[in-house]
Amino acid sequence: MAHDMSTLPQLHLIDHPLARHALTGLRRSDTTSAVFRTRLRELARFVAIAATSDLALTPTRITTPVTTIDTGETLAHSLIIAPVLRAGLAMADGVLDVCPDAEVRHIGLHRDEKTLLPATYYTNLPEVINPTATVLIVDPMLATGGSACAAVACFKQRGAKHIRFLSVISAPEGVSTLSQAHPDVPIYTINVDQCLNEHGFIVPGLGDAGDRAFGTL
Ligand code: PRP
Repeated sequence: MAHDMSTLPQLHLIDHPLARHALTGLRRSDTTSAVFRTRLRELARFVAIAATSDLALTPTRITTPVTTIDTGETLAHSLIIAPVLRAGLAMADGVLDVCPDAEVRHIGLHRDEKTLLPATYYTNLPEVINPTATVLIVDPMLATGGSACAAVACFKQRGAKHIRFLSVISAPEGVSTLSQAHPDVPIYTINVDQCLNEHGFIVPGLGDAGDRAFGTL
């Protein structure tokens, strides 16, 4: 089935030549885990810059070594980075490079290899999340979209109102599922690949990002 993603307002593609170059390195099957993690961190910076480009600023009075000004600017609202374990960990440092003052909250999700359904095995989130905070959910792969929907639901249940999903590659199926279930959640990704195969892997994809970054379970 052909998927036309071009009219989806939630979808933001990061079309930077350096990002596309790095993504090609990430896809190669002969890329080592060490290089894979480095590339993922580089790519995460591009995605994070795009996903934060419209954050609100507030005027701030500061004193420099020379004078005092009222025209300083700081983020108006807090930022939470939410890496989805395990693969999201390899993106988290790149997002933190760009957003060093953000809070980090991990979510552990594992997709069952047969059913492809996600199961949550770790959350360490406050019961209530400030509704003005922006939450950046970080996972290199959006495949069926099940894990992304579970992660978004987890934050919404705790009151988050401004959630963005950051990935490196996405399947059309995952983009459709996430955007239909959560139309208020923008998706920032470098590429929407062709399809999912019968095992739920993105094609051409890059394999299993968690395994490639951290080793096979
Ligand atoms: C991968 C990936 C996403 C999920 C995507 O994780 O990092 O979390 O699968 O698949 P979905 O969109 O079909 O839900 P995996 O479950 O392999 O866990 P891992 O990162 O620990 O290897």
